[in-house]
Amino acid sequence: MGIQPRQCDSFNPYDPEVYEDPYPSYAWLRDEDPVHHNEELDIWVLSRHADVAAGLRDHTRFSNSYGVLIEPSTWGPDAYKQLSFVAMDPPRHTHVRGLVSRGFTPRRVAALEPQIRQIAREHINTALEQDDLDLVTDIASKVPMDVISELAGVPAADRKRIRRLGNLCAHRPPGARDIPAESLAAIHSLIGYYMELIAERRRAPRDDLVSALTAVAAEDHEFGDEDIAAFLTLLVGAGNETTQNLLGNAWYWAWRNPGQRAAAFDGNISGWIEETLRYDCVAQYMARRLVEDTVMHGVTVPAGACMMLLIGSANRDPRVFPDTDRYDLSRDTSAMVAFSSGPHYCLGAALARLEARVVLEEFVAHVADYDIDPGALRRLYGANTRGFTALPAVAKAR
Ligand code: HEM
Repeated sequence: MGIQPRQCDSFNPYDPEVYEDPYPSYAWLRDEDPVHHNEELDIWVLSRHADVAAGLRDHTRFSNSYGVLIEPSTWGPDAYKQLSFVAMDPPRHTHVRGLVSRGFTPRRVAALEPQIRQIAREHINTALEQDDLDLVTDIASKVPMDVISELAGVPAADRKRIRRLGNLCAHRPPGARDIPAESLAAIHSLIGYYMELIAERRRAPRDDLVSALTAVAAEDHEFGDEDIAAFLTLLVGAGNETTQNLLGNAWYWAWRNPGQRAAAFDGNISGWIEETLRYDCVAQYMARRLVEDTVMHGVTVPAGACMMLLIGSANRDPRVFPDTDRYDLSRDTSAMVAFSSGPHYCLGAALARLEARVVLEEFVAHVADYDIDPGALRRLYGANTRGFTALPAVAKAR
C-alpha cells in the first residue's frame, strides 16, 4: 500500500506539515500538478523523476547561476561568492571543478578510510559509555566535520572549534525562511580561519588538501586564496550536515522497519545506505534559474523563474521505483538522484558513502541492537534538508 496523497493547491516547503512528512504532498504534485507554481513565494516546482532528472542534466536551460537554494539571501547573481562553483554554469564551472578535483582526488578520499574509522570508533565508544545516548548529537554530528578537517589538514587542536562553526553554518531555527545572522557569522569565521590555514600551508606545505590546492593556485592566476577558502566552505556546506542526516535517517528508518534492520545488521550496509538515500534523501531539492521561456506538460514557465527540482519526490516516483513507499534494502536504487545528476553530480558522493559505510560498520560492530525514543526525537527544520537534530536511543552494546 502506498501513502495517501495530500492535496496541496499551493505547495509550501516551509509548511510544518511538509517538514514533518513531505511525501503525501509530493505524491499529489506528481499526479495532479507536475509543473506547480506557488504564487506567494513565486517558486515553480517539478516533482516527477523524468522532469527532475532532465532538469538536473540540462544546464543550458536550468542554470545554477543564482545558486541552488530558494532562501532570499543566497538566491541571486552573487550566489557563487557563498557557494563557489555549485553556483556556476559551464564553462566556468567545468574549469573550477577541474581545478579543485586535482586536489580532491578519489585516491585522497580512499586513503582517508583508516582515519575515518578511528574518528568513528572514538565517537561511538564515547557515546556508548554515556547513560543518555543520542545518535545524532553524540555520533552523527561529530564525524563528518572531523573528516572534512582531516582531509583539509586542520590541526587536531582546532577541530572542536571548527566542528562547532561547521554545525552553526547549517543551523536553522524552526520556521526560518532565510539564513539566520549567527549562521552567516559562522560562515565568515570559517572563511577567516581557512584563509589563515591557506597562508600557513603556502609557507610550509604538507600532504593535505589545502596544500594541494595552493599548488594548483600557483599555476592558475584566476584561482586565488579566496577561491580555495570558498571551496573549503562549500565542502562544509555540502558535506557536513548532509552526511550527518544520512546517518540519522539510516538509524531512524532501520528502527522503524525491524526486518530491514536485521538485514542491515546481517551485513547489508551498502543496501542500508543506498535505500536510505533514496527513501528519505537529505537534500530534498535543488533550485535552478530558468534561462528561457519553457513549455512543460502544457504549462509555460517564464524565463527567470526560480525552479525547485524536487529530488525527494523523484526518488519516490512509482513510475521508476515499484512499491515505492516501502523501505527495502534489497531494491535496485540505481535510478535515484540523491546525489544529483549531470555536471553538478555531487563531488563528495564517494566520501559520503565511505563515511556512512565506516560509521555504520563500526556501529554494528559495537552495538547488538538499539531502540529510539519516539517521543524525544527532534526533526531538523530546513526547506531543503531532511534529518534529525536529536535521536535519543538506548543501545545494547555487544
Ligand atoms: C549524503 C551526503 C550527501 C548528499 C545527499 C549530497 C548531495 C549533493 C547534491 C544533490 C549535489 C548537487 C547540487 C546540484 O545539482 O546543483 C551535491 C553537490 C556537491 N557536493 Fe554533495 N552531498 C553529500 C555529501 C557530500 C560530501 C561529503 C561532500 C564533500 C565533503 C560533498 C561535496 C559536494 C560538492 C563540492 C558539490 C558541488 C558539485 C558541483 O557543483 O559540481 N557532498 N551534493
